[in-house]
Amino acid sequence: MIIKDAKFIISAVKPHQYPEGDLPEIALAGRSNVGKSSLINRLLGRRNLARTSGTPGKTQQLNYYLINEDLYFVDLPGYGFARVPKDVKAQWGKMIGGYLDNRENLKLSLQLIDIRHAPSKEDVEMYQYFAHYNRPHAIIATKADKIARGQYQKHLKVIRETLQVLPNTPMIITSADSGLGRQEVWNLIAKYTGF
Ligand code: GTP
Ligand code: MG
Repeated sequence: MIIKDAKFIISAVKPHQYPEGDLPEIALAGRSNVGKSSLINRLLGRRNLARTSGTPGKTQQLNYYLINEDLYFVDLPGYGFARVPKDVKAQWGKMIGGYLDNRENLKLSLQLIDIRHAPSKEDVEMYQYFAHYNRPHAIIATKADKIARGQYQKHLKVIRETLQVLPNTPMIITSADSGLGRQEVWNLIAKYTGF
């Protein structure tokens, strides 16, 4: 896809703030700090469109980005951030769950997992949700530049086994730093949206 235009639209907290219309949406889910915002920037070739941060928990709303008036990326709040109070956590869960359950525009969810680490309990729960409800989804292993290429398959195996990844779930290795996997992710998006 040729990115002619990419812009931030809204930080939505409530469903009535989600954009009107029927443009397809691609959601990015994953733990805080896994690299959701960085991947969006890399996919769009924009350095600072989605705000990234070394401080986990930066993205606390559903952040909508519009690409070419064709489709939206939806940067979901990161889960699993220990220092967030319980009631705030419950609020996030409600927001993410409500969106994933009900949003008809949602065509594909990308679940990001840091390639270096075994998936957490929350990662497993998130994956089981997508698998159980048969939602179009893919696993995106992030930060590949942090390990040697020769280690990729070993780390993927840990992710596959911990999540009990189904054979039909695509898994793509990416790096927001080097751009690895960018085309593969776009190919997948094209499959689900036509763009
Ligand atoms: P929240 O918004 O808190 O949920 O985090 P996030 O998932 O959006 O993560 P973000 O993109 O802000 O990245 C977190 C940190 O990881 C930042 O310091 C990024 O620079 C770094 N990072 C993200 N992706 C990569 C990558 O592919 N390689 C390397 N080396 N660092 C990365
Ligand atoms: Mg973010």
